[in-house]
Amino acid sequence: MLWMGVRMTSLVAENVTKVYRKGSSQVPALRGVTLEIQDGESVAVMGPSGSGKSTLLYVLGLLATPTSGRVLIDGRNVTVLDDITRSSLRNKYIGFVFQSYNLLSGLTAPPASPGG
Ligand SMILES: Nc1ncnc2c1ncn2[C@@H]1O[C@H](COP(=O)(O)OP(=O)(O)OP(=O)(O)O)[C@@H](O)[C@H]1O
Ligand SMILES: [Mg+2]
Repeated sequence: MLWMGVRMTSLVAENVTKVYRKGSSQVPALRGVTLEIQDGESVAVMGPSGSGKSTLLYVLGLLATPTSGRVLIDGRNVTVLDDITRSSLRNKYIGFVFQSYNLLSGLTAPPASPGG
């Protein structure tokens, strides 16, 4: 990404909302989250099950788009970027350890061979 610096220095959420739509019902998972995280900070997001922690990480990690509000990386609005650009940013700058591993059940890796 030519327009990004070598590393991220700030991650900002501005009034982020996320509403999941299940058929005719709507689940508001995030209701206006505003936060700022600077390079070098460690942040823990805590709350009861269903309070929106994973949803917030998906939105901050560019895996999901907010229903409204903006996410800014180094001051640039990343919510308006196309899928390919978002994927490229994720690939380069964002690491995830998932709560559920999202493995493909039909695929199995062969055991590692000695020395290989
Ligand atoms: N794909 C989805 N479709 C519809 N509703 C969803 C979806 N994912 C999450 N939700 C709902 O959004 C709300 C927030 O869920 P989320 O998974 O972000 O919470 P959480 O804080 O990570 O919970 P946990 O501690 O159990 O991991 C919950 O009401 C949940 O049921
Ligand atoms: Mg979760």
